[in-house]
Amino acid sequence: MKQIIVAGTGYVGLATGVSFATIGFKVTCVDIDESKINLLQKGICPIYEPGLQEALLESIMQERIEFTTNINQAYRKADVIFIAVGTPELPDGTANLTYLKEVAKDIAINASKDLVVVIKSTVPVGTNEVVKQILKEFAHPQLKIDVVSNPEFLREGSALHDIFHGDRIVIGADHPQSASYVSELYKSFNLPIFVTSVRSAEMIKYASNAFLATKISFINEISSICEAVGADVEQVAHGMGLDRRIGSQFLNAGIGFGGSCFPKDTSALVKSSALEGLELKLLKSVIDINDYQQLKLYELAKLYFGSLKDKQIAILGASFKPNTNDIRHAPSIALIKEFLKAGAIITVYDPIALPEVNREFGDSVKYSNDLYEAISNQDAALIVTEWNEIVQAELSQFETRMKQPLIFDGRNCFNLEEVQNTNIQYYSIGRKPVNVNLQIAQKL
Ligand code: UDX
Repeated sequence: MKQIIVAGTGYVGLATGVSFATIGFKVTCVDIDESKINLLQKGICPIYEPGLQEALLESIMQERIEFTTNINQAYRKADVIFIAVGTPELPDGTANLTYLKEVAKDIAINASKDLVVVIKSTVPVGTNEVVKQILKEFAHPQLKIDVVSNPEFLREGSALHDIFHGDRIVIGADHPQSASYVSELYKSFNLPIFVTSVRSAEMIKYASNAFLATKISFINEISSICEAVGADVEQVAHGMGLDRRIGSQFLNAGIGFGGSCFPKDTSALVKSSALEGLELKLLKSVIDINDYQQLKLYELAKLYFGSLKDKQIAILGASFKPNTNDIRHAPSIALIKEFLKAGAIITVYDPIALPEVNREFGDSVKYSNDLYEAISNQDAALIVTEWNEIVQAELSQFETRMKQPLIFDGRNCFNLEEVQNTNIQYYSIGRKPVNVNLQIAQKL
């Protein structure tokens, strides 16, 4: 049986390794982070991802997956190596390829037989060739090592579902044998496979993320016009989405996109295009709109209160979206920073991401993992992440517990008619405000 090695045990690497083990392959996952590998060897999943913990334990019990920091040994026995190490954003907005290049060099030095290196990490166009060069430079000249691009489209919070039920698998290869080799590995996933050139595959990943981010900024911009002219953005998005040319997904207006992919990949695409002498005007606007949108609830609260000094504000939801503890580029972080600068007193609620927020803000904010405790005695509650716990919250609790029942909802969690039957002052995105003083509403 082919020996699959996965380099990097982050979201993508771990989900990839576990999914190949689930369908029957023998997989070795390697990482230089000893603490992570120790946890994984004990069957403990170091990230929160629904279903992953159970699938990991099952694969360990079936002896289909193992974890090691012994990189050299792992690469020596490899037939195929998936590289899924991080390509974090550098201060100038380009992707940091240091980890990827280190892995390529380690593979080259240790490879003992012909193999295929598959790059899953999101990398700028041309990176596969850089990896190919490194392999050529350091590997034994008689070995045949090809490099294939296989970008990943999984979403955090539904990673395993997306791997097994995705819309397509993209394979970028310059040699048909390598394309067939990697296609064969994916055979039992039963998903459409699109084979293309290496450079096009690399570009598909960036263009897909940039397009989805564009849909979000587009509907967020429309939500502002809806507020001004009295239309309802949810109805507008629904009516638009019925047109199959537009599609209904990624048209939820809110307080912008966060996470490890859209912010990083849109800015990397703008920066790498600039290096080619091209200005991506549309994508630059997508980023600008998102920066504005992430702080929209802060601007609303500032207009409402005048001064935010000593105002008690509950931030409901910290992760960049539900079902993950990831707070990278989350709107909550941008909001908390602004409110703190303005002298507000912040309490953060999140079902699982509080340790991450604590690492960022320490004692400068208060924490609560009980939603109703978090809103008690607050001047305003800001809904930032649409966790089920928040969507299903009892509105009566906001009425009885808050100093004054006032919600700024950045994720349109509540039905306007239901809020109408309460005494909660309610502002959401792209919809008419409810139970509010008309003069204030006009000002906002
Ligand atoms: C994204 C892509 O969906 C995935 O294909 C790629 O591999 C990685 O980047 P992810 O970042 O995990 O996945 O989450 P996603 O569900 O796409 O949401 C990204 C952000 O957009 C979140 O902050 C979310 O709240 C926001 N969003 C999404 C909206 O504001 N409105 C929408 O309609 C959809």
